[in-house]
Order: sequence, then structure tokens, then C-alpha cells
Amino acid sequence: MKERLQKVLAEYGIASRRKCEQLMVEGRVKVNGIIVTELGTKVDKFEDKIELNDDKLISLDEKVYVLLNKPIGYITSVKDQFDRPVVTDLLKNLKVRIYPVGRLDYDTEGLLILTNDGDLAYKLTHPKHQINKKYIALVSGIVQDEDIERFKSGLFIDDYKTAPAILKILKRNKDTSLINVTIHEGKNRQVRKMCEAIGHKVIDLKRISMGNISLGELESGKYRLLNEKEITYLKTL
Ligand code: URA
Repeated sequence: MKERLQKVLAEYGIASRRKCEQLMVEGRVKVNGIIVTELGTKVDKFEDKIELNDDKLISLDEKVYVLLNKPIGYITSVKDQFDRPVVTDLLKNLKVRIYPVGRLDYDTEGLLILTNDGDLAYKLTHPKHQINKKYIALVSGIVQDEDIERFKSGLFIDDYKTAPAILKILKRNKDTSLINVTIHEGKNRQVRKMCEAIGHKVIDLKRISMGNISLGELESGKYRLLNEKEITYLKTL
């Protein structure tokens, strides 16, 4: 089906339709190698090769899988009602719209996967798939060895008993502890609430992996595309 070029450009998330019209008039848009300035031009978004400033736009039906190191102070959403920064603000260079898979709190940082593959996003967030998510947390107080067992047996948070989780104590400081927590559920603020349930307030929280996919050395606020091996791994989970 053919649609107006400015509508397709806006769908890519480049800018508003009006701004896209302006880009066309300025001669910055090519369709199949030819500059198009005519505002009535219609294109097939799956068949035609559309370029902006000579950058090929990723075809709208092409699946894109991104790993972002989410900084603190960003909402895991594509839009915020209070106009706070959203994670997709950090992906402005990507010429295709993608959506977060699951969420991290405003005050949590670390690994966040984003994609336009709706089937995979659904699968990864569905409780039955139980993908392990690993976090590093700095908490108040000294976490005790007995707490490892409490995480393993499940804890009550908001009248809900959590599934067995793995707690590792990485370091005990004077009045804080550095811990590693692995859960496969995704209840609201689950790690924070589990730590509170054993009497420790989370000071910093960072997700470092989801299944086999790790954040590695990726800097805060930066993203990379997942490689073929990682995509295949997620699809075969
Ligand atoms: N658990 C939390 O408490 N917060 C997150 O952002 C993720 C897991």
C-alpha cells in the first residue's frame, strides 16, 4: 500500500509530519535514489528505498534489537506525561521506532533491551519464560549470610510471595553492602522491595544481565545493536 512520504518519514520517528515536509522541500529526502521534493509523493514503506541526508532508513519491517545502558533519571517509556527524559531520547540516531522490553525504574540504571519485534518483546516479558535478570545493588546495612536463604525461600512483598531468588554478598562495607541479586520475575520495584523485606534499603541499583546477554563495558547512556548470536539466543529461549 502506498502512503504519503511525509507520513512514512514521521512513522520512522524522524520528526513531526510538518517537519518531514520541510525536510522534503529542502531536498534532503531520496526515494530509490532520486531526491523527492513533491509533497504529494506516495511510497511503499516496505518496498521503496527511502534515504534521509543520504542515510538509508532501516526498512520499517526490518527488526531492530538494541541494548541500551539506561542511565538513572530516564523513564522506561517512549513518552512521559510530565515531559521527563525517556529512554528513546537516547536513541534519536536510530531511524526506526523501537519500544522497551519490560522496564527499569526511573532511579535504576543498566541493561535495557528495546526492539520493534513485538513477538519477541511479548515472549520476553511473559512470566512463563522466566528469563534470569541479574542486578548489582548497594544497600544500607550489613547483609547477613542467613539472608541468602531468605531470598531462596521467597519473600513476601505486597502480599505476594516471590519465587526463589539468588542473593550473593559481594562486599560488606562499614554500613552498606554490595550484593548481587538474580530474579526471573518482574514485579514492580521487585529488587528494592525484596531488599526492604530483609531490612535493607537500596541505595543504587543496576541491571547487568538478562539471560546470557550482558551489559559489559557499554557506557551509561550508550547503546549497541544486539549481534546475531544474541538475537538467536533470545528467540530460542
Ligand atoms: N527491581 C527494581 O526494584 N527496580 C528495577 O528497576 C528493576 C528490578
